[in-house]
Amino acid sequence: MRGVILAGGLGSRLYPLTYATNKHLLPIYNMPMIFYPIRTLVEAGITEVIVVTGGPHAGDFIRVLKNGKELGLKHLEYAYQEHEGGIAQALALCEDFADNGCVAVILGDNTTDANISEAVRSFEGGARVFLRRVPDPERFGVPVFDPQDPSRIVAIEEKPAQPKSQFAVTGLYLYDQHVFDYIRTIIPSRRGELEITDVNNRYIQEGKLTWAELNGFWSDAGTFESLYRSNAYWAQKVTGRPCEDFTRYF
Ligand code: DAU
Repeated sequence: MRGVILAGGLGSRLYPLTYATNKHLLPIYNMPMIFYPIRTLVEAGITEVIVVTGGPHAGDFIRVLKNGKELGLKHLEYAYQEHEGGIAQALALCEDFADNGCVAVILGDNTTDANISEAVRSFEGGARVFLRRVPDPERFGVPVFDPQDPSRIVAIEEKPAQPKSQFAVTGLYLYDQHVFDYIRTIIPSRRGELEITDVNNRYIQEGKLTWAELNGFWSDAGTFESLYRSNAYWAQKVTGRPCEDFTRYF
């Protein structure tokens, strides 16, 4: 399976931090943000990766990632997304790279210490999403479970005002080769983007979406609060020291 990291968008929620560089190159403790999703893929045995980026700082990625060898990648390529047309639009740029195979997709601002090796190894097609229980599901794609069969997702709602479950659909996805056909069938949402949630709903309609709970830490880092949280978590994890150690100066 090949890997896709989506690192486009303007990162406008993090202005002024993202005036100088791309969001996915901002630090999370001791590494640039994008190192984390790359590591998740490499740990799952995925070493052929494409990074989709865009905006005014796209060139910065080459200086940081180079050819990816230092990060354990065998092959690294880049695609440029011309407009911030959504996650599914960014993924559509990877059709040639996928070469009719399955892809593991990770959003470039998602960090996790969960290991997805087994899910990747046993993936048999369709789509697989990874869920995480969160205190603020209204910020995310949220699964709606079948009341008769709570193991079945009947729909995913994007940032619902009244979430129907406490889970977030995290930004890690496994797709078979049909994903690109499904992207061609969706239309922009009210926020003007091709939504990955609409793609996932197409798989649900076809009865081909499965899910697993992500074990371990997971967060996005696209807002000041979630960026700070991710830093705090990884600082503790990397040093083995509790948060209070870092706040003794307060
Ligand atoms: O983090 C998980 C959530 O990510 C999911 O629960 C949602 O269903 C999904 O829509 C997404 O929500 P966000 O609104 O938080 O996504 P955001 O616009 O922040 O984009 C997340 C990443 O996707 C971003 O870091 C880079 C990539 N992206 C995004 C856009 C809009 C692109 O590569 N191109 C784009 O045009």
